[in-house]
Amino acid sequence: MQLSESVRKRIDEARAQYPPEQNRAALIWALHAAQDEYGWLDEPTLESIAEYMDLEPIKVYEAATFYDMFNRSPVGRHQIKVCTNLSCMLCGSDGIVDHLRGKLGVDFGETTEDGRFTLTEVECLGACGGAPVVWIGKDYYEDISPERMDEILASLD
Ligand code: FES
Repeated sequence: MQLSESVRKRIDEARAQYPPEQNRAALIWALHAAQDEYGWLDEPTLESIAEYMDLEPIKVYEAATFYDMFNRSPVGRHQIKVCTNLSCMLCGSDGIVDHLRGKLGVDFGETTEDGRFTLTEVECLGACGGAPVVWIGKDYYEDISPERMDEILASLD
């Protein structure tokens, strides 16, 4: 498959930030660009990124599978990433997870039938001071309660 013009443009912009011999440093930005456009990263996309950046495909696979932020399977329109690490767990993330499971009828790794929400468990989001924390799209939501979670869900299309 051919990467779209907008993805190639974003990759070119990222690569321009690094010396040519450190081309690989732009890989994370390339993966973000592709995921923003396609929603998730399938094998043809990863192979196209490797080819476009002149990298070994295994290097691209390694990065795409190492980081939580990259999806290797399709996700809903909104991916709800709930931190269940220590600080969030101590501040009630289990209750948030139970609330979301009950309200959405899905477990971690699953998408609602209408394709609207995917529920995802993530490790520490680096915002422990605001625990419990939920990450949706480009926004972090802190000090989440079940009631606040309902408000957030209602605000999403
Ligand atoms: S433990 Fe949840 S943000 Fe750090």
